[in-house]
Amino acid sequence: MSEHKERFSDQMEFPPETPQPNVYPLSWHSHTRKLQEIWEASLREHWDPEKLPWDTFDVDSYSWEERESIAYWWTLLSVFDASAPPVFAEALVKTYELHEEDPVRKCFFSVTSDEQNHEIMCGLAITRLLGHPDPLTYEPKTDLGRRLQKNAKWLYFNGGRYWTGYKKAVPRYDLAVLFSSFLMGEIAAATIFKQMYSNAREAVFKEGFQNIGRDEGRHMAICMAVMERDYPKMGSENKAIITKQIRAGYLFLSAVLFEPPMDFWDLPGDFIANQREAEEMARGAGFGIPTYEAKKENWRQAIINVKSVLDVYGIPFPAIPEVGITGEEVSNIALEDIIPVF
Ligand SMILES: [Fe+2]
Ligand SMILES: [Fe+2]
Repeated sequence: MSEHKERFSDQMEFPPETPQPNVYPLSWHSHTRKLQEIWEASLREHWDPEKLPWDTFDVDSYSWEERESIAYWWTLLSVFDASAPPVFAEALVKTYELHEEDPVRKCFFSVTSDEQNHEIMCGLAITRLLGHPDPLTYEPKTDLGRRLQKNAKWLYFNGGRYWTGYKKAVPRYDLAVLFSSFLMGEIAAATIFKQMYSNAREAVFKEGFQNIGRDEGRHMAICMAVMERDYPKMGSENKAIITKQIRAGYLFLSAVLFEPPMDFWDLPGDFIANQREAEEMARGAGFGIPTYEAKKENWRQAIINVKSVLDVYGIPFPAIPEVGITGEEVSNIALEDIIPVF
């Protein structure tokens, strides 16, 4: 530190204004009752993935192909869930910089913590199934396992490209815009975990899916409450960005909820065939990944739910012909444009 540091306190009675944005709200305003309620629910419903009934999970009762196939699904989920804690931590910082009301800050803190739980759950499942804590350095035991590891490496490569774009997007966009993307992710997540819960045979997975699904339901409610607060006063410029982000969300999240659109995801030609083979294998072992048709219908329903929320605020919806939804044409979306999270 230089000796010539200016001392304000020698010159004035009160300090100068602190430059904004500053990550330092010395205030605890509370205006949105609903958000306070969700925060309180998050404390009541908190759970610990390590305390699930892992002792009832006999991994040796599965064949290696089944183990590798089920681990592959958790790996696919991790491509989304393992990035969620830093993604929401970044958004949490933004709520502090904006001096958001206290319940918004608390809700974002809870989402960050929940998402870390989901990522921990992925890790516990993968580590047990593979007997190794890292699906990318694991040594596959079967031919299917080898092909799935190749898939996993390509998924990881694709997912890794979106972080830099996201970091640039967070300061650039209003919280209101970020929320539409979050809503897309949360509705998608709530949908898939509900399905996985009803189809799971293994107690530890069933309980895990139930908890994760409940968390995602709260995340959805947080998005809706903030949208209800902010959307009525939103300008048309932000509305257009949201339309584009919803289309981006479809392309991004389809990889886990449906099948990855190949003009957006950079994946090898045998990717989908390998993934379908693994899903069939996992289903046969009582790990109920929805079939192609069921996924398509569920994803369509989830998107219609997003649409019904945005319709209320007069936000044009993008065309999603892949699942039979008409709307505004949106093209030229790159991974770098993506905000959606899970
Ligand atoms: Fe999650
Ligand atoms: Fe979530």
